[in-house]
Amino acid sequence: MGQNRIKIDLLIHDLKVPLAVIEAGITSLLNRQEKYGALTEKQIKVLKRALRNTKVTQNLVGDALELSRSRQGMTNVASVQICNLFEDGLIEIFDLADSKISEKIRGSHDLEGLKAILETEGLHLNIEDSLWGEDFRLDERKLKQILRNLLSNALKYRKSSVELKASLEGETLLICVKDDGEGIPTEYHRKIFDCYFQLDPGDTCSVRGHGLGLAGVMVLLEDMGGKMILSSDEGQGAEFIVKIPLPRQ
Ligand SMILES: Nc1ncnc2c1ncn2[C@@H]1O[C@H](COP(=O)(O)OP(=O)(O)OP(=O)(O)O)[C@@H](O)[C@H]1O
Ligand SMILES: [Mg+2]
Repeated sequence: MGQNRIKIDLLIHDLKVPLAVIEAGITSLLNRQEKYGALTEKQIKVLKRALRNTKVTQNLVGDALELSRSRQGMTNVASVQICNLFEDGLIEIFDLADSKISEKIRGSHDLEGLKAILETEGLHLNIEDSLWGEDFRLDERKLKQILRNLLSNALKYRKSSVELKASLEGETLLICVKDDGEGIPTEYHRKIFDCYFQLDPGDTCSVRGHGLGLAGVMVLLEDMGGKMILSSDEGQGAEFIVKIPLPRQ
């Protein structure tokens, strides 16, 4: 690894401590009002927003470090339940967009309950009950990062709905994220996986990204021995299918 890369990774790594201190401070103010003083509704709202954004930054720091680790051949394979993987990924996404929904997801008791909550957001979850409770040995952090990136793109670029599907094909886990947005013309199907490439870096979406998400997804996927299939055409929505080889426990 080059010296410059190490310097950047160390800098990112060192952000973890101050971020943890900020998170702990805000959490104490919110949860221990008997010690730190009573808060007004408005103060609670501001602090909750600050806490959400601290968590976003912590996720970004974690993602950046995971990408570098992955490139160095580091994997962290452990037993993971599909339901935890999906629920955590969804909570992280909705924490940013709408924390009320993420609270509801946290409170959902089963797959049917979760599906009903997501339906209200135009997100259709299509997964077999049997797969939902299944355990697999996989690199949870990498897979969650892949899921979050594909889902946040689909939610950003959709017209009204997104479908999230998961299934097993032999010893391969298939995750499919499909939206009904403007789609991607065939000539850009490779380019969108390049760093910094964006189809419309103009002003069509209010929240602009950096053109890095999909490039990161490809790095992680490659390191997991997985594959990506993109089907999309202009005006036809986009479907990203991720295939990950999985040894069953
Ligand atoms: N579901 C989608 N529908 C239409 N276009 C998409 C979709 N997903 C990605 N794209 C196109 O591919 C580009 C690259 O996506 P990528 O996720 O790498 O970057 P981004 O979403 O713009 O920013 P970020 O770095 O925050 O992820 C997007 O800017 C967009 O033009
Ligand atoms: Mg993106």
